[in-house]
Amino acid sequence: MKVLVTRPIPEPAVERLRAEPATETRMLEEGAALDRAALLDAASEADVIVALLTERMDAELFDRASSLRMVANMAVGFDNVDIAAAEARGIWVTNTPGVLDGATADLALALLLAAARRLPEAERFLRAGRYRRWGPMLLTGQEVHGRTLGILGMGRIGEAVARRAGLGFGMEILYWDERERPDLERELGARRTDLDGLLGAADFVSIHLPLTEGTTGLIGADELARMKPTAVLVNTARGPIVDEEALAAALRSGVIWAAGLDVFEREPEIHPDLLDLDNAVLLPHIASASIPTRLAMAQLAVDNVLALHRGEDPPTPVVRGASRR
Ligand code: DGY
Repeated sequence: MKVLVTRPIPEPAVERLRAEPATETRMLEEGAALDRAALLDAASEADVIVALLTERMDAELFDRASSLRMVANMAVGFDNVDIAAAEARGIWVTNTPGVLDGATADLALALLLAAARRLPEAERFLRAGRYRRWGPMLLTGQEVHGRTLGILGMGRIGEAVARRAGLGFGMEILYWDERERPDLERELGARRTDLDGLLGAADFVSIHLPLTEGTTGLIGADELARMKPTAVLVNTARGPIVDEEALAAALRSGVIWAAGLDVFEREPEIHPDLLDLDNAVLLPHIASASIPTRLAMAQLAVDNVLALHRGEDPPTPVVRGASRR
């Protein structure tokens, strides 16, 4: 079985691939996968691709990769994969759910705190030599504990955020999700609301939705206008869920207080207006980037590959492919 790893991933996971009998693993160099032509070329020989969220796995690529049996995405999100095209061709698609919930939730809280309490701005102020005297009004921000957090998408990561915020910071939890969560309503006193209700009542709004047609552009100018002028928006899910242009305008004009963003509409491009704003805390998509979590993600991707090779059931399928192609 020929396995293509589109860019370097944690080595222990690659070693497991290399140690598997009757497999041949090829890893593209850092940067090479950014070149679409090189990716298509390499894919044409692959039986399995271990892909990252930066690589588009679409019909064009599947048609070039005539022996492809699986895309093992090293991410929980799989919006980089054309699911219908994979289904139509009997190609397995797997993702890495569960192993990154804690790290992603930790970072969502870090962004929430950093934006509310103006941490990057305060640090820039200090490093610029501007801290000459303590002052009662110096860099004051929003209170976090005891405030209301609205969670868009109460899946595994949303739940991990709710637990941290509810149990650790005594926050009131509202959530918007098609599924009711009676367990969290009991344990955390969480309340399910409609989107407008949540946006109007929350001091913090944290996004934990997959990117789909239905969630693209979900938070635009109208939705931002429904939020409190003291509110903070946090996005660790996918950039295109938020209209960045509208967000930058809302941050500049004080429609909302601040935003903490780990993801962007056109990554790695950042809207230039956001770069100019002190009340936008911006990170390069690192929510799951703890060393143990990235290793666990790589290992789970490889678990899926090895299961396919051994004729077993891949543990985390998104699309169940054909047994042979
Ligand atoms: C994912 O897994 O979908 C993240 O965006 C990267 O951890």
